[in-house]
Amino acid sequence: MQWATTTLAVCGLGAAALATSMLTLGRRLELSQAKHRSLAGHARMARRLAGFVPFYDYDEERFFASDGAPADIADLRRTGFARLSELYKTRFAETISRSAEAAEAISDLQFTGAYRVPFQYRRVVRAHLPLGAFLQSSNGVTVTDLDGNRFYDLTGSYGVNVFGYDFYKGTIERGAARVHELGPVLGAYHPLIIENTRRIKEISGLDEVSFHMSGTEAVMQAVRLARYHTRRSHLVRFCGAYHGWWGDVQPGIGNPLPTHETYTLAEMSEDTLHVLRTRRDIACVLVNPEQGLHPNAPAPTDSSLLDSTRSSHFDKAAYTEWLKRLRQVCSERNIVLIFDEVFVGFRLAPGGAQEYFGVRADLVTYGKTIGGGLPIGVVCGRKDLMKRFRDDRPADICFARGTFNAHPYVMAAMNEFLRLFQTPDVQALYRDLDAVWDGRAQRLNRRLADEGLPVQVANMSALWVVCYTQPSRYNWMLQYYLRAQGVALSWVGTARLIFSLNYTDADFDAVADRFVAAAKAMQQDGWWWHDPATTNRTIRRAIMKEMIAHRLFSRRKH
Ligand SMILES: Cc1ncc(COP(=O)(O)O)c(C=O)c1O
Repeated sequence: MQWATTTLAVCGLGAAALATSMLTLGRRLELSQAKHRSLAGHARMARRLAGFVPFYDYDEERFFASDGAPADIADLRRTGFARLSELYKTRFAETISRSAEAAEAISDLQFTGAYRVPFQYRRVVRAHLPLGAFLQSSNGVTVTDLDGNRFYDLTGSYGVNVFGYDFYKGTIERGAARVHELGPVLGAYHPLIIENTRRIKEISGLDEVSFHMSGTEAVMQAVRLARYHTRRSHLVRFCGAYHGWWGDVQPGIGNPLPTHETYTLAEMSEDTLHVLRTRRDIACVLVNPEQGLHPNAPAPTDSSLLDSTRSSHFDKAAYTEWLKRLRQVCSERNIVLIFDEVFVGFRLAPGGAQEYFGVRADLVTYGKTIGGGLPIGVVCGRKDLMKRFRDDRPADICFARGTFNAHPYVMAAMNEFLRLFQTPDVQALYRDLDAVWDGRAQRLNRRLADEGLPVQVANMSALWVVCYTQPSRYNWMLQYYLRAQGVALSWVGTARLIFSLNYTDADFDAVADRFVAAAKAMQQDGWWWHDPATTNRTIRRAIMKEMIAHRLFSRRKH
């Protein structure tokens, strides 16, 4: 009898264990299904594969004909390249020489210098088309380098510059004067912080605010708060979305360690909603609304522009619908919905992405422009989520302090920014904002198409991406033709054009003229020569073969 009871108990336990493992396996499968099919959707695999990519580069002969172009086209390219190189070396002489000197000891410059173009072309480009990293002044929508060349600025200072550089010169100068008497005293606050907090609460529609040094720190704090209050471990980020360089939000390439508490899921996906509905370990969902421009694709850069597959299209209605559904699931499951508006806040609408898409978040991070030109990160949130300690458990706290948080000079520049931002003049800028920028994008696209140039732009308001309409290995060359035409881009090249909102029609037309002239010159120099048999797929296959060959070769060598 006792034997039978024991057997039954063991069988019962076995059945329970089996059911639990089946359930765990099922949940795992659901997680896999909710990953985006691309490599960016599989962070661990991407990291592992990145370790296998061998370095190799093209010599000068292959550089001009890596797509199998005939000799006359390669010659055309060589001549155009030499002309461009001469122009760079004479026109940008001082800027280039000072930058080369600085790069010897500034690791950031070495990195950005290396990752402007695909690595196979890097050596020849750097030898003949060196770029300057110095500027001496800014004015209106232009910046001027050390040689006195003026460029239309499309770098947007990584997104900080929403209203034009003169606007921020004013906020910094006037702000500094207002806190001069206190100076850089930290720990205690300057009273301006009270007004800042009130204005940010008004803009975000949320209850409390905390100040940090950068967007990365703001995101870290928002996620930490979500984990603290939900007592759950995992954050969900969407495939391709950038949220700063903190490890947990960068689980793939770029992070030396794998992350263990991050799920990278597909955006705009039913499978993702299912995972959110059914898992119990998810503390928060992090949304970067900029991804509406290219859901599930990583922030583009010209250093990976080896073919013409980069695509972009902003469907506001579809993205809004997705955010609404996300909101609903998060509310049902008590998952904290975080909008990371470090980049898009103040760019799309006076109330940021929450207003633009008509969806409210539980926590919002701001950064970049809200510092009035000085370094900043801000977290805003519901009162219950912002609290950093528990009344009934005094030792259970969520620590987040930083030496420079709420620095008087930053608070003062921010105060100037917020006051100006809320004036009718600045608010009026947002009226018809999308219509203005959509119209400009359409006008440029029409011109490019009429000229038979294989280039088009896609936009989310004044944030633009350049896309290429015909398979080519050389699209990254356009950034060098644009610079020759007096257009300044950031180190990601044509992947991101960031216009400040003070661009007038005349300013924009000048940029459009230069853009068309640059693309025409590039076409005339033969870079877009096209073998009809070439497709993006054949380009990718050829590059894969090169990599495998180099990998095998370097193995044999060791
Ligand atoms: C959406 C988003 N979040 C966070 C960050 C990180 O901000 P920071 O560079 O100030 O650390 C960025 C920076 O580009 C961003 O675009």
